[in-house]
Amino acid sequence: MRKKIVAGNWKMNNDKAETSALIKGLKRSIKKLPLKNTRVIIAPSYLSLSSAVKKTKDTPIEVAAQNMHQAKSGAYTGEISADMLKSIGVKTVIIGHSERREYFCETDELLAAKLDAVLANDMEAIFCFGEKLEERKKEDHLLEVGSQLKNSLFHLKPADFKSIILAYEPVWAIGTGETASPEQAQEMHAFVRTVIGKKFGLEVADSVSILYGGSVKPANAEEIFSKPDVDGGLIGGAALQVEDFTAIIKAI
Ligand code: 13P
Repeated sequence: MRKKIVAGNWKMNNDKAETSALIKGLKRSIKKLPLKNTRVIIAPSYLSLSSAVKKTKDTPIEVAAQNMHQAKSGAYTGEISADMLKSIGVKTVIIGHSERREYFCETDELLAAKLDAVLANDMEAIFCFGEKLEERKKEDHLLEVGSQLKNSLFHLKPADFKSIILAYEPVWAIGTGETASPEQAQEMHAFVRTVIGKKFGLEVADSVSILYGGSVKPANAEEIFSKPDVDGGLIGGAALQVEDFTAIIKAI
């Protein structure tokens, strides 16, 4: 059975005190939930990662990083390596978020190299992809996503997908309040599964978790999660509130 996953991408939010308060609240509210087949992941900023790992020890909450450099070490001012993340107990990292692609010029090729670094370090990636509004309007969304997947994933081996979670995040739905309809999400997720199946085999396609991200809220989570190829969510704004994030986890 595919794992259900609810991951909170905190982006550039929450200082030290806010991080502590949010984790404290989440620990309390999650304790009461029957999580069964569901993973709960939070991705705070680099500064808060180490304390988040300590504060979530012995709880079901896992901690991920929002980004990572592909090199082992060296003169890359401002960057963080796989070894650094592993040394504080972080083994999951978000790769290819559209904000990284857009504001930090991360290309499909660079993301392929980052995925290689994640896998070479026995870490796990939450790999994000998605089309922009112009592409959706031109009905090129499947073409665009197909090309992002091909350029960043097609050099991998089927076994690598044990360490990869996919996340469809239509750029036009991120932080805009506009969500893909459950049908639009399902169409894309089914397409992605087909693309992965053709390249890596049905077993891989059937076992890889595909998350949806883009204005997921307590009010729309249940309907989106009810779609057969949607295995969970990558949550931005609503992951910053204990009540909202908890309600989204409950909806899965
Ligand atoms: P919002 O939920 O704020 O739209 O953000 C989605 C996202 O980018 C998660 O990575």
